[in-house]
Amino acid sequence: MKAAASIGPPLAGGVTGAGALGESVRVALAALERGASARGGPLPAGGPQGVAAEVARVLGTARVVTRPQGAGPGVLPVLGVGESAALDELTTLLAWGSADPADPRCAGHLHCPPLAVAVAADLVASALNGSLDSWDQAPVATVLEVEVVAALAALVGFSAAAGGSVTSGGTESNLMGLLLARDASGPGVGRRRILCSQAAHFSVRRCAGVLGLGEDAVVTVPAGADHRMDPLALAAACRRVVAGNDRITAIVATAGTTDLGAVEPLSEIAAVAAEFDTWLHVDAAYGGGALFSDRLAPLLAGLDRAHSVGLDLHKLGWQPIAAGVFLVRDAALLAPLAQRAAYLNPDDDEQAGYFSLLGRSPRTTRRADVFKIAVTLRALGRAGLGVLVDRCHDLARHAAGVIHAHPRLELVADPVLTSVVFRYLPRHPVGPEESDRINAALRRRLLGEGRAVVGRTEIGAGAGSVRLKLTLLNPYASVEDLDALLDLVVDAGRTESPPTT
Ligand SMILES: Cc1ncc(COP(=O)(O)O)c(C=O)c1O
Repeated sequence: MKAAASIGPPLAGGVTGAGALGESVRVALAALERGASARGGPLPAGGPQGVAAEVARVLGTARVVTRPQGAGPGVLPVLGVGESAALDELTTLLAWGSADPADPRCAGHLHCPPLAVAVAADLVASALNGSLDSWDQAPVATVLEVEVVAALAALVGFSAAAGGSVTSGGTESNLMGLLLARDASGPGVGRRRILCSQAAHFSVRRCAGVLGLGEDAVVTVPAGADHRMDPLALAAACRRVVAGNDRITAIVATAGTTDLGAVEPLSEIAAVAAEFDTWLHVDAAYGGGALFSDRLAPLLAGLDRAHSVGLDLHKLGWQPIAAGVFLVRDAALLAPLAQRAAYLNPDDDEQAGYFSLLGRSPRTTRRADVFKIAVTLRALGRAGLGVLVDRCHDLARHAAGVIHAHPRLELVADPVLTSVVFRYLPRHPVGPEESDRINAALRRRLLGEGRAVVGRTEIGAGAGSVRLKLTLLNPYASVEDLDALLDLVVDAGRTESPPTT
């Protein structure tokens, strides 16, 4: 057979491409180290202007982009610069200019440092480029996804009848839960309503909008002093919906709220859902990882009473993004997602055993994100992951202790999972607006100087609600690292406080 003429850079797919992949990986790893060593903190110094200027320099574009509009053809030249050069220069740029989740001073978001084993597995998934919408694009990955779903469903407490799929994250899992809830409840009169707590993730509203229910279909239930949905208030809100001749389509409970990590009382909420005969979706995007920990798993008691659950292993699970998982207590509940596409899952193929996961997701092409999850679960086991969860929980408790004892810091609540919410207090008391200004400014100062990524949120509403947040997902950080991070916060707070304070 005649060899094909070379038309460009080598392919890396499959076993045959492994040599080319090796060369590219060597170039990328060298550039990764070079870029990372070119800076001293968890993110580049210089803020948006400095970052944009560096991107413009590397791409050779004339205009520095500080707004979400591109500046021109730098990234798509007429003649390419060549694969080694592009990989080298852009990897160096990206490594210099990333917020590094492996740096203990990077603690702003539910943005975890991925495990090396998971990153390597993700590279393999990219190289093989399987897609889970048909068996013939991903034979083993299809079976592995079924296995991973079954293992995580068992961890949740679901029976062997459970089903689900790997998702892009908590937002897609919430969308799936609400889509299935909507379709399960069938036609009827009255406006559909979704009930969730004040502290639920904003994606619940967004999903209600996407599903055509309107964002204002979401009724928020007040949280109690413990920042969790109050089941009595939930029951009262359900009664009001029914009395107003509206219909309850779903209740969404949160296991691990985004800021405080609060786990809502799932058993009591499940009882309310049963009383009103409605779907219970539990958004365990953050708190689901607690199931790996003997210490924290009891917080999620009652999770097995949900109809659907979303959990994200790119949060407390140390996976590269994306690694969401959506589970339903009974695979039959996935029926509204069923699709028959002649080119993907013809009936006779399915009957002959060539089953596809097309009907388990609203997506068509779907990357084998399951592979890195499977490798990680098998490599560490529940106990290994539990140790990492417990370490992060210990770090949060340490940080809370330091904040509590510090005269310039004020703790909002004891940590439940791995996040700590607090604020800086100037030496002399200031009004609520000034408190907000100082806390916001100290955080931007740390970002702009490239010294730390601290989260910012609001607890309550109005002036005086701005708070700072450490989301601790790095099990390899030490207590000394956290002490140093809090020192940075206090120093920046002093710098931002007026001299009289
Ligand atoms: C509780 C909760 N649900 C859902 C989400 C959305 O997850 P994702 O960003 O993976 O879509 C988040 C994100 O932080 C979250 O904290």
